[in-house]
Amino acid sequence: MTPQKVDICFIIAMRAEAKGIIKELSLTEDETFSPGYPARAWKGKFNKKCIAVVINGQDNHLKLDLIGTQAATLSTHLAISHYNPGLIISAGTAGAFKQMGANIGDVFLSWPYVVYHDRRVDIPGWDEMGIGRYPVFDIREMAQQLGLKTAIVTTGNSLDMPETDEKMIRNLNAGIKEMEAAAVAWVCSLSQTPFFCIKAVTDLVDVDHPTQEQFQTNLKMAVTNLCTETLKVLAFLIDKQ
Ligand code: ADE
Repeated sequence: MTPQKVDICFIIAMRAEAKGIIKELSLTEDETFSPGYPARAWKGKFNKKCIAVVINGQDNHLKLDLIGTQAATLSTHLAISHYNPGLIISAGTAGAFKQMGANIGDVFLSWPYVVYHDRRVDIPGWDEMGIGRYPVFDIREMAQQLGLKTAIVTTGNSLDMPETDEKMIRNLNAGIKEMEAAAVAWVCSLSQTPFFCIKAVTDLVDVDHPTQEQFQTNLKMAVTNLCTETLKVLAFLIDKQ
């Protein structure tokens, strides 16, 4: 299939995280996007640029949004094959560290790279491959002008944070913990597609309050903030070309 060029493509795991952005940008569903796969896409114009939002879609049996690195890898591959985007942004919600100055509802941009924290291989060389350490598009000026915080984003396939993961995350000096970014970054690196993340904080992982409860309580507010800041990021990027 001939790829349809898209300027900026968002990869988002959950429908709830994408809904506001799709609505604010008046995007319409692209029914031609990857039939037979769970991923879904919406497309439209914003300030004369072609924008797409790709979500992972739902698990066939459980009818729940597909989260984690497998679904993110597949969605990103499909997005690049179908749209050949000039830039990919992994958008969504995340956990963060109070000790590093994060608050619930903060919106972070990734800098200077994204990593994995749950791919432990204690053999020289393979240890670094496990971590990944994928560089991101330079967002420093944008973060400064929009007043957004920045952090190393770390990806794993679990919501909880057992001691081994926490030790790894602290060693990597990561500030944002989520479940898709490094997978998206890896697929982007294969085609040299520029990439970065925008993540809104639903929970603080270093406080004495269950993560899943914080996530459910704060999801709506964090998604509202994600949408507001994403629109500013888009306007900034388009203005700067
Ligand atoms: N998404 C939102 N909060 C998260 C956390 N604490 N860990 C992983 N993914 C998340």
